[in-house]
Amino acid sequence: MTDRPADRRPQPPGVKRLYIETHGCQMNVYDSERMRDVLRPLGFVQTDAPEGADLVILNTCHIREKATEKVFSQLGRLKQEKDRRRAAGGDMTIAVAGCVAQAQGEEIARRAPAVDLIVGPQSYHHLPELIARSARAKGAALETAFTPEEKFDALADLASGRAAESVSAFVSVQEGCDKFCTFCVVPYTRGAEYSRPAEAVLAETRALVARGVREIVFIGQNVNAYHGGMSLAGLIRAAAEIPGVARIRYTTSHPNEMSDDLIAAHGDVEALTPFLHLPVQSGSSRILTAMNRKHDAAAYLRIVEKLRAARRDIALSSDFIVGFPGEREREFEETLALVREVGFAQAFSFKYSRRPGTPAAAMPGQVDEDAASERLQRLQALLRTQQRTFNDAQIGRRLPVLVDGPGRHPGQMHGRSPYLQAVHFEGGADLVGAVTWLEITGASLNSLSGATSEKALA
Ligand code: SAH
Ligand code: SF4
Ligand code: F3S
Repeated sequence: MTDRPADRRPQPPGVKRLYIETHGCQMNVYDSERMRDVLRPLGFVQTDAPEGADLVILNTCHIREKATEKVFSQLGRLKQEKDRRRAAGGDMTIAVAGCVAQAQGEEIARRAPAVDLIVGPQSYHHLPELIARSARAKGAALETAFTPEEKFDALADLASGRAAESVSAFVSVQEGCDKFCTFCVVPYTRGAEYSRPAEAVLAETRALVARGVREIVFIGQNVNAYHGGMSLAGLIRAAAEIPGVARIRYTTSHPNEMSDDLIAAHGDVEALTPFLHLPVQSGSSRILTAMNRKHDAAAYLRIVEKLRAARRDIALSSDFIVGFPGEREREFEETLALVREVGFAQAFSFKYSRRPGTPAAAMPGQVDEDAASERLQRLQALLRTQQRTFNDAQIGRRLPVLVDGPGRHPGQMHGRSPYLQAVHFEGGADLVGAVTWLEITGASLNSLSGATSEKALA
């Protein structure tokens, strides 16, 4: 999702500039938007660079070692900016939010004394108090309580309401994770599973649609484990009834929570897009057991089969980890075999990253870095071929495209196919927010080009 245009012009007194940098997953993207909502009543307006900002928030990700280490190098650079501003008689407040703040709050306070406040993903509704506290306190003000219910109540009460930032909006329905995959930090950084009440989710959805949003993306770490008074399938059906909702998506799902009811919704809810991100991580049942995924490769394939029976053209995306402890060439080849069998439209793949405190970090059979890199390259080559094949297969089809903004060149517009592919075409700016039928005329690895039918025929 794109940020709103930043305003770097001189601001009237009382207006403060806010710069938020977002790393990590959809949950952090949503949280950054909501942090802006929390801070708006205090007079903060968004800016697009840390230079000149009064408050800088790093919304961080802890999932892999690289992401975490990046935080400390960024904090080093921000300290220099803060020192420059202080030397010139000004100041800048530095905040660290997100999953690194949650997991390593005290370490950040110790290693990066320029940081003024540290706030976890379940407690950022306290930002106004924390800013006030940090102005008085000597060290960093820290708040990392797990209070999702209180957070969502506070967010719902915000007088200004949620800003609609584009034609597509994330709506968080579920937070946290009880699955404890042995490689993953999320259950420790986001806390236990919590589902927001369905009425609150639907009220937020209605408010967004009233502001022009056309696509609702229900998000959660385990979104299909949603149980806020109804199942995710129930929530999708209720949202589809709201006039103005053109498309519904949800992410991220766990295979074990793919209920028959949810699979059936793919067959009969028209607004539900025929695209599903369903992480499998590995195609080896032995590795899946060691990962504590609680399903084997065959169970994943059965779910895919059921989904395709419900919705013939459903396209799938996934996450993969290569080089998990104990993975040998044999297990890796099972992953390649599963990929060949399913045929993914798109996928993310990562080298296993050893995370302190997780059970897998202490497992025997840690895989050598070079072997993991080599496997990742092979897997990514296969996934790229599949993505290209899937995109090429759209050429000549007519697809409904949700137009979300201007393209790169004058006169060009940008939208998304039902399978989430980026589509470029020539059209007017008045089409933003419309679902328009396009003939697909070209494809590349990352996007499609299309034309309105008359043009395609010309
Ligand atoms: N269910 C979650 C998954 C979050 S993590 C969600 O809502 O998105 C996203 C992906 O990061 C996982 O699916 C996994 O493939 C990858 N990942 C998690 N921990 C990892 C680790 N220690 N090393 C490498 N990749 C990891
Ligand atoms: Fe992490 Fe597993 Fe939970 Fe996903 S389901 S957030 S991979 S522990
Ligand atoms: Fe990263 Fe936290 Fe999301 S660790 S992937 S930002 S839940």
